[in-house]
Amino acid sequence: MSFAPGILAGKAAIVTGGATGIGSYIVRKLGSLGARVAIVSRKEANLKSAVAAFKANDGIDVLWRVGDVRVPDLMQEVIEELANEMGGLDILVCNAAGNFICPTEDLSPNGWRTVIDIDLNGTFNCCQAALPYLKEASAGGRIISISATAANYGWPGAAHAGAAKSGIQNLMKSLAVEWGVYGIRANWISPGPIAGTEGVDRLIIAQGRAQEALDSIPLGTFGEGDDIANAVVYLASALGKYVSGTELTVDGGSQWQRR
Ligand code: COA
Repeated sequence: MSFAPGILAGKAAIVTGGATGIGSYIVRKLGSLGARVAIVSRKEANLKSAVAAFKANDGIDVLWRVGDVRVPDLMQEVIEELANEMGGLDILVCNAAGNFICPTEDLSPNGWRTVIDIDLNGTFNCCQAALPYLKEASAGGRIISISATAANYGWPGAAHAGAAKSGIQNLMKSLAVEWGVYGIRANWISPGPIAGTEGVDRLIIAQGRAQEALDSIPLGTFGEGDDIANAVVYLASALGKYVSGTELTVDGGSQWQRR
């Protein structure tokens, strides 16, 4: 089951962290529905192998640039180049993130700063760099940030990521208000655990918490990458045109499970 073919034809999208994990599902889905897509991440090897796989498996040509979302000048340069190459920019997906499990009492200032810098400052850097192009998007620019349901609660062992993701959520609310005048919609998606991603492998399975996590999901299974990608399409397409400043939770109902 899918959206109408070509629903994103004529749109141009940048997905940060689009070479791996949830980002790669988003890229595949946007590209298969007609958008031109570009990806940005830190590791050239990941970018190259992802672009080859998008082409071989899905028939999608994806542009790529090496870039660290923490570096504002670099992101300005990269987003400018990609937007010019694609003939504009309609959709920015802020997906790049870093996280690790560490009790807050053991977390070094640099560990804290690193995650805040990637997740929160990185999102700000990309949004600001994309603004001139999103302003020109014919059906209204779309910013979609990938957050986490855990950010709506305390997140023991990942206070750094929880604070960053909460910050992203508030940034999206502020941009929805400030940039609504430019026709820009800013929203965030909060995924629950998505099977086959580094987040689930490293933060849940490697911590021996797989069964506990499954027990906390009313629908009884981890999500799939396409569940998040479909949510992105809804927010990025004409179907989501009146949605701004809000959260789309995709977690099998777990946020309301009594623990
Ligand atoms: N526990 C405690 N502290 C950690 C840590 C861990 N597991 N991993 C990193 N840190 C700390 C480092 O010790 C360092 O602090 P210090 O200088 O006080 O020692 C600080 O965080 C920066 O780490 P560094 O590895 O130099 O940063 P980086 O910019 O190369 O990478 C991450 C940071 C978060 C991206 C890195 O942890 C990483 O590669 N994670 C895997 C990818 C990922 O997070 N994907 C997201 C999907 S969940």
